[in-house]
Amino acid sequence: MTSPSQHLLVTGGAGFIGSNFIRFVMEQRPGLQITNLDALTYAGNPANLADIESDERYQFVHADVRDRDAVSDVLRNCDAVVHFAAESHVDRSIHDSGPFLSTNVIGTQVLLDACRDAGNINRFVQVGTDEVYGSLPLDCPDLAFTESTPVQPNSPYASSKAAADLLALSYHHTFDMPVMVTRCSNNFGPYQYPEKVIPLFVTNLLDGRKVPLYGDGLNVRDWLHVTDHCEAVLAVLESGRPGQVYNIGGNNEQSNRELTHMILELMGCGRDMIEQVADRPGHDRRYAIDARRIRDELGWSPSRSQWPDALEETIQWYRENEDWWRPLKANAFNATMLTSKSGGDS
Ligand code: NAD
Ligand code: TYD
Repeated sequence: MTSPSQHLLVTGGAGFIGSNFIRFVMEQRPGLQITNLDALTYAGNPANLADIESDERYQFVHADVRDRDAVSDVLRNCDAVVHFAAESHVDRSIHDSGPFLSTNVIGTQVLLDACRDAGNINRFVQVGTDEVYGSLPLDCPDLAFTESTPVQPNSPYASSKAAADLLALSYHHTFDMPVMVTRCSNNFGPYQYPEKVIPLFVTNLLDGRKVPLYGDGLNVRDWLHVTDHCEAVLAVLESGRPGQVYNIGGNNEQSNRELTHMILELMGCGRDMIEQVADRPGHDRRYAIDARRIRDELGWSPSRSQWPDALEETIQWYRENEDWWRPLKANAFNATMLTSKSGGDS
């Protein structure tokens, strides 16, 4: 298909999903120029895109989305934006919500204002999360979030993302900006920072360390392979309707206990490697996505998220890429260090 964009600005492209997205789009849309604006926080890593850094279709700009001059400067050459840049880890937001409000809310406002002033941006995708909808009970398995489910965020992370979504939608309503919002479930795949549950557990086990399972382990997440997410975001960028929200999900609900057991099995480890630790404060019980809108309107559905194969492939990536994750573990946030009586990893 023809892309509505010739030159795409991706914010946060040095992080987990952003880097996978840039690589995916460069493969799928070889005619597109991409500028990646990223502040390189602890979660941003140029190594995530080492294989494409010298490609002439790609340009990296080291800047903060809250820096209006830098953002306006970059926008001069762009005609579309996919906004991934954010603080993204719930446990960090519980520890200190300041950076979440600042980057996720103010950063989005600065970017939206800069786009509005630039006047040449014909598509803007605000990348959001299913966590804005809050928590579903475990005893109603048929319930799932639709795009008209009221937002009811429970963590500082989710609240900051909800604020960003609503702000972006208000710029569509008020200024007729071509904004689409996506709300996706939990991603897994290569280049995920090893403080999120799957890479944390896999890399702990590769080091012979236990895995800290929060609370009773019955909290449910819907797991989607990052490339499926990238494909959905590209579909929304190219064909989504301005002013709309698009839910994105993997149709792959697992309790944390099931997830942990599967990781242990795939890695040949026993259940004695589980360390049950204090629960996350305010821990959402269940997320489940009804993704019929994106399927019916844009023809997207997940095709790479099938378990156990997709999980096994991801584990294999971390096995083969120790040089990538080992230096990052030192900075990875470890909630159990703050809360558990046992002091975290054994
Ligand atoms: P990540 O933490 O791996 O990457 C975030 C990136 O944003 C990093 O490269 C970081 O350097 C950059 N960044 C942070 N603050 C910045 C700032 N002020 N200016 C410029 N760059 C900045 O996050 P991720 O998991 O790749 O998530 C990307 C987006 O997708 C986020 O908006 C997140 O809310 C959303 N999302 C994530 C998931 C998931 O499962 N990981 C699910 C749904 C939605
Ligand atoms: P996480 O990867 O942090 O994603 P999110 O909080 O955005 O869903 O956590 C996924 C699930 O795993 C969540 O229910 C919390 C749980 N979890 C643990 O049990 N132990 C851990 O060490 C971490 C980081 C998460």
